Amino acid sequence: MRIVVSIGGSVLTSDLDPERIQKYAESIEQIAKDHTVYVIVGGGRSAREYIETARALGANHAKCDIIGIDMTRINARLLIVALGSRAYPEPATSYPEATEAALTGQIVVMGGLIPGQTTDAVSAVLAEYVGADLLINATSVDGVYTADPNTDYNAVKIETMTPAQLIDVVMKIDLVAGSNSPLDILAAKIIQRCGIKTIVIDGRDPNNITEAVAGRHSGTLISS
Ligand code: UTP
Repeated sequence: MRIVVSIGGSVLTSDLDPERIQKYAESIEQIAKDHTVYVIVGGGRSAREYIETARALGANHAKCDIIGIDMTRINARLLIVALGSRAYPEPATSYPEATEAALTGQIVVMGGLIPGQTTDAVSAVLAEYVGADLLINATSVDGVYTADPNTDYNAVKIETMTPAQLIDVVMKIDLVAGSNSPLDILAAKIIQRCGIKTIVIDGRDPNNITEAVAGRHSGTLISS
């Protein structure tokens, strides 16, 4: 299978613990034995901190986004280092570049690409671009909820949903200031248009990535 794995910066590099990053590398290496694997890495806390400082200095959103993208690439580099020779040595900076890098047989790791989106969208577009069989979103919640579980105690985890239902949930959460959506709206739209099978899992445990590829997960399956 061709698999795209999106790992939130908040789960991969939140504390910059090398042992933790190594564990993710081991999980990725494990699935790369049998599959072609692309990994998208998010910005996490460091991206947020740099963006906050840039904003306080007067940077507009687009400029802050570019700083965020740089931070996702630095996080991608940490995973590349942890993967050693199994990884393509540079983070891909475009979808065609990612495809070419995969021809080497190595694991392709990349961060963000353009302002105005997050790495959720990058992973969905890459999954569409390379014709992936599966998109795994390893994040800091254990699935998609009916509302933001951090702010709404009545939120319930959804086991299976269609892309259209995902868009409804994401739009509803986005309307509430300060809420955190499991996937951004652009990613949800791309998942809908290409119909790729997507699983949102609790990425705080790196083993959940290998489990999800093996068909075992307790997150949310998005399938049309
Ligand atoms: P993330 O994808 O990590 O965003 O990119 P996020 O929503 O903060 O991450 P999680 O899911 O909570 O961990 C970090 C920042 O980088 C910029 C955005 O500013 C984003 O908030 N970015 C990232 C882009 O502008 N374009 C991209 O393609 C990717």
